[in-house]
Amino acid sequence: MARKSVSKTAATAAKKPSIPDAHGDFTWFNDARFGMFIHWGLYAMPARHEWVKHVEQISTADYAKYYTRFDPDLYDPKAWAKAAREAGMKYFCITTKHHEGFCLWDSKYTDYKAPNTPCGKDLLRPMVDAFRDEGLHVGFYYSLIDWHHEQFGVDRIHPMRGNAEERKKNAKRDVSKYAQYMRDQVRELLTQFGKIDYLFFDFSYPGEDGKGWQDYESDKLLTMVRELQPHILVNDRLDLLDIPGGWDVKTPEQFMVRKPVTWKGKPVCWETCQTFSGSWGYHRDEQTWKSVDQLLMMLIDTTSKNGNVLLNVGPTARGEFDARAMDRLSGMGAWMQKHSRSIYGCGVAPGGFKAPNGTRLTYNAKTKRIYMHIFDWPIGSMGLDGFAGKVKYAQFLHDASEIRWSTQTHGHVGTDAEKDHNTIYLHLPVIRPNVAVPVVEMYL
Ligand code: GLC
Repeated sequence: MARKSVSKTAATAAKKPSIPDAHGDFTWFNDARFGMFIHWGLYAMPARHEWVKHVEQISTADYAKYYTRFDPDLYDPKAWAKAAREAGMKYFCITTKHHEGFCLWDSKYTDYKAPNTPCGKDLLRPMVDAFRDEGLHVGFYYSLIDWHHEQFGVDRIHPMRGNAEERKKNAKRDVSKYAQYMRDQVRELLTQFGKIDYLFFDFSYPGEDGKGWQDYESDKLLTMVRELQPHILVNDRLDLLDIPGGWDVKTPEQFMVRKPVTWKGKPVCWETCQTFSGSWGYHRDEQTWKSVDQLLMMLIDTTSKNGNVLLNVGPTARGEFDARAMDRLSGMGAWMQKHSRSIYGCGVAPGGFKAPNGTRLTYNAKTKRIYMHIFDWPIGSMGLDGFAGKVKYAQFLHDASEIRWSTQTHGHVGTDAEKDHNTIYLHLPVIRPNVAVPVVEMYL
């Protein structure tokens, strides 16, 4: 009996992924707060979402019309990198391969790559060089899903999910060959492009007709990644969530969290990836573009909760950021040029400081300054609970003009109850400063 139960335990343990309990370097990432996601691949040509092959259930043979014509003749990675830096972004993350399986670099493990299209060259290397030259950290997105690879079995999200013939071929497909292909490719990405700071795998959907860590061999993949570049940060989509060392960064996608993100009750490093509109890949007709003000609020709100924003651009198939993207990037950049001090290196305000309605607080622990971002402009005076006795000096961030305060409201509306909140009252001008979001910087 005893022997039986031992071997049972061993069998269960053998099924658990084994990976080093290690993490990458969080310091630069937590200071950066703002990065650029780039989704670029063949799907820029249909220009109706990067999942177009899935949505329209397009066969690989039909999808070839894009591959044989892909020719981004206006591609200028230096212009992209400049736009990112001027927007205030500190890192970027490029889809080296998305779900369609097309590779931007000259991988020796596939023919399905940019150098074999009319464009005729490796698109990744000059991009990495250009962004590094602008001082940005480098991140690679690599799709775990691959709708082009022969050994990647047809499953519930595959473009050929409804095709019985293709489904039948699954019997001959060997996902472990695909897992090896991924390791080979990721090894290329982590050995041929210098220091890579961030790796964004996408994504697992374990269970019935899906794919999880056993299919992807995520344990082997991650172990290799940590060996090749120990400082690298890895996101949380390898289906290794419960395994110590299985991920570094949580990545809530396309929604605004209400509180700093925790996992099993503990605060974690996190980044929200967001689109300008609904699509990641270039989408010609999508109209739900967020305004510059909304995007800034997104960045500020996320920073106030210790998170990063990875904001996506989907370049066109000619190789450019379109006018809508450039408009948002330059609008954000104009604000960041004067206000980045309230974003970089900042996070949640210490306990006791309460953000008044219609504002967000961020805090820089090194400089001991607190930043109040005012979304709803008040009339004249603004009460700040929990601030009395703690603030040494206050100014607008955009022009460093002094803001005075008192511990009493003007007139006779102050009450004892208000005093109990340790309130100070900022004397703000009636006219709202002409910046997208005014910020008061307070020295503690
Ligand atoms: C989703 C989508 C994908 C996109 C990603 C960004 O997982 O599958 O198209 O690249 O989100 O996080």
